[in-house]
Amino acid sequence: MVASARTEPRGSMAMELTIGDPTLMARLERGMDASEERLRALAAEARDPYVAEVAGHLFGRGGKRLRPLLALVGAEFGERRPERRPAAADPSAAGASATGTAATDPSATDAPAAVDAAALAELVHVASLFHDDVMDQGLTRRGVPSVNARWGNTTAVLAGNWLLSKAAQLAAELGPETIRLQSKVTNRLIMGQIRELVGPSDDDDPLSHYFTVVAGKTAALIAMALQLGAVRTGAPDRIVQALAEYGEHLGIAFQISDDILDVTSTSEVSGKEQGKDLAIGVASLPVLLALADERPEAGELRALLTAATAATAPATESTGLPKAVALLHRCGALAEARTVLHARLLRARTALNGLPDGPATQVLHALCDFVARRDH
Ligand code: IPE
Ligand code: MG
Ligand code: MG
Repeated sequence: MVASARTEPRGSMAMELTIGDPTLMARLERGMDASEERLRALAAEARDPYVAEVAGHLFGRGGKRLRPLLALVGAEFGERRPERRPAAADPSAAGASATGTAATDPSATDAPAAVDAAALAELVHVASLFHDDVMDQGLTRRGVPSVNARWGNTTAVLAGNWLLSKAAQLAAELGPETIRLQSKVTNRLIMGQIRELVGPSDDDDPLSHYFTVVAGKTAALIAMALQLGAVRTGAPDRIVQALAEYGEHLGIAFQISDDILDVTSTSEVSGKEQGKDLAIGVASLPVLLALADERPEAGELRALLTAATAATAPATESTGLPKAVALLHRCGALAEARTVLHARLLRARTALNGLPDGPATQVLHALCDFVARRDH
C-alpha cells in the first residue's frame, strides 16, 4: 500500500509516507490518533478551563507530528512491540508475551507504552513551540494564531512551562529511564535555544555554532522520541543506539529543511510566516552559507537583512525581505544548503544499517525521502 494523499485536518506525516506494509500503516495511524487523545486528556487534567484551553491550543491542529510518529516507530523495534501485544492482555504487564495474536490484526489496540512515548514527545515539542514563538515573535503556528499572538507572551511562557510540567509528570509515571531521557532532552533543547539566542562568540566558527544549536533545539528531541519508543518496548541497547544516531542526523536534516522552507515556502503551505528567520535575524543555514565565504552578494545580503530586522512592518518591498529571498536563490546558498541537507540524510540512512531490515526500518528510510522533498 502506498499512502501519499494528505488528509485534512489530520495532516500527520504518517499519511504522507510511502509505507509498503498496510498493517504497520494502520497501526501507526491508530497510534497517532490514540496519542492525540492522550494529549487532549492531559490538557483537560488542568481542570482550570483557561489553562486547559491555552495548553491544548495546538493539539488537534494537524501539524506533521513527526515526533509522536517516531516514538511509535521506535516502539516497533522492542521485544514488547505493539504488533506482538496480545489483544486482550493487560497493557501494563511488562512481561506480556511475545506470542500475541495482534501481529496481523489491524484493529488491534496499540500498546500504551508506545502511545505514552508518543504523547510525551509531543508534549515537550509543543511546549518548545510555545516558547519558540515567543522568542521568534511567531504569530502563526499550524495555521492558527500562535499562543503568544492570541494570549500574549506571559501566558505563552507559563503555558509552555505547564506542558513541560505535565511531561515531567508523565515521565515520572513511566519510570526512571523515561525521566532520564525526558530531562536530558529538555535540557539540550533549552540549551540549543539559548545558544541560538546568544549567537556565536568571536572565536566560534558560525557554521559549527549552527550545528551545535540545531543538534540541541531540534535533533535532540527527534532522537529521543525514537529512543523512548524503543526503550519502553524493551528494545536491545544496540538498537536504541542506532535509532538515536539516526535521529540525531535526521533531526539536523529536518531543521535544515525547515531553514530552507523559511525562505521558499508560503505561509499557506507551512502554517507559519514566510521569511520569519530572515525578518528577526535568526542565522539560518542558507544565510550563514551566503555570508560565509564573502561571495559578492554578501554585502548586499547583510544590508537587506539589517533593513529587514529593523522593520516593524510585515514583509513588504520596503523591508527588503523579498530581495533577500531572491538573492539567496541567486547566490547559490539555497542550493548549497540542499547539498548539506542531502549529506546529512545520507548519514541518517547509514545509521539505519544498524537496524534489522523490515517495515519499521523502511518507514525510517521513507522519512529521509520525505525530508529530502519536503515542501511544508
Ligand atoms: C525550532 O525552532 C526548534 C524549536 C521549536 C525548539 P525554529 O524557530 O527554527 O522553528 P520554527 O520555524 O519556528 O518552527
Ligand atoms: Mg526559533
Ligand atoms: Mg521559530
